[in-house]
Amino acid sequence: MSNVVVVTGSAGLIGSESVRHFAGLGMDVVGIDNDMRSYFFGKDGSTRWNLDRLTSEVGDRYTHHEIDIRDRDGLAALFAKLGSNIGLVIHAAAQPSHDWAAKEPFTDFDVNAVGTLNMLEAARAHSPNAPFIFTSTNKVYGDTPNRLPLIEHETRYELPEDHQWYGGIDEQMSIDQTLHSVFGASKVAADVLVQEYGRYFDMPTAVFRGGTLTGPGHSAAELHGFLAYVMRCVMEQRMYHIYGYKGKMVRDAIHSHDLVSAFEAFHKAPRVAEVYNMGGGRFSNCSHIEAFQIASEITGLEARTDYVDQARTGDHQWWISSTTRFEEHYPDWKLTYDVPAILREMYEANQDVWKA
Ligand SMILES: NC(=O)c1ccc[n+]([C@@H]2O[C@H](COP(=O)([O-])OP(=O)(O)OC[C@H]3O[C@@H](n4cnc5c(N)ncnc54)[C@H](O)[C@@H]3O)[C@@H](O)[C@H]2O)c1
Repeated sequence: MSNVVVVTGSAGLIGSESVRHFAGLGMDVVGIDNDMRSYFFGKDGSTRWNLDRLTSEVGDRYTHHEIDIRDRDGLAALFAKLGSNIGLVIHAAAQPSHDWAAKEPFTDFDVNAVGTLNMLEAARAHSPNAPFIFTSTNKVYGDTPNRLPLIEHETRYELPEDHQWYGGIDEQMSIDQTLHSVFGASKVAADVLVQEYGRYFDMPTAVFRGGTLTGPGHSAAELHGFLAYVMRCVMEQRMYHIYGYKGKMVRDAIHSHDLVSAFEAFHKAPRVAEVYNMGGGRFSNCSHIEAFQIASEITGLEARTDYVDQARTGDHQWWISSTTRFEEHYPDWKLTYDVPAILREMYEANQDVWKA
């Protein structure tokens, strides 16, 4: 029994990778996604194509539900029906963009914070022993990373090598008294709730605070999906607007496969109320300038970029995650994709889709 995994945001980047992965391990996957990404980001953002691909690839092991995670009763009814068959919950549905959140703060909060509470309550009532995984974000640290003593290099900002976080920022960074953006604040609410359902109700919950999550399953749009949108712009010869910091801001990138293999490790040996920073770390990171250089080398095409001398509000100037805590708990887990490998895979996967 307990062979069912419930995945929210199942047509999105992380959700779809989770569906394939756990179906591949022989679990039955119940997905929840209402394509709200197309409401957030327009046609480019729709995840319907990914859902179509999923249902044909995964077949009978996958059942789809169009439920909106804001629909508390709808979620409760589904969880009640599945009951103790649920062996794992992966909650990856979200409004994921900090720029978008300022347009509709109520919608952002209702999806990210209240939607997460709806999921936690449904799980507490019907599957309290199933590991509950939540995809949080490094934006919970707000713009505190921007106070680090960064040094400017030719193509990127960097920390001094003797800084405690040169190898990556760990979970000890404060999430308090910082500029989060409206999105960061709604994710903080959800992140703390997931921890609380662990500590207070003793449920096996885990918060994975992602750096840049990426992979060929991303529906690349200007407001969300950094590396996929870089590759899309280069391949389609679209103009990419770089906002501020001379294009030298650094992100670490983790492929959806590597993140979902971390979910599998947690599923096998769950813990209570855990928090992990999850990203590409020192192994996989780049600045915007470097991302375009790599994408140009792979495609043989010049990138078309213009520069807007105004950084996005709350944007990180430098972020590299430390995954040490997770690796200490799960020593067999390893990152397998770095930035060039991620971009090359996107290029190969989208030859017929992203054309100039
Ligand atoms: N991609 C990143 O760079 C990144 C970084 C850090 C954290 N995260 C977090 O990881 C999670 C997954 O991100 P992703 O990149 O896979 O996002 P995504 O947008 O590709 O997938 C999310 C899916 O959730 C669905 N969805 C949105 N609102 C919904 C609702 N109300 N009801 C049902 N379904 C809904 C969307 O249609 C979409 O298919 C999110 O929580 C996000 O905040 C992402």
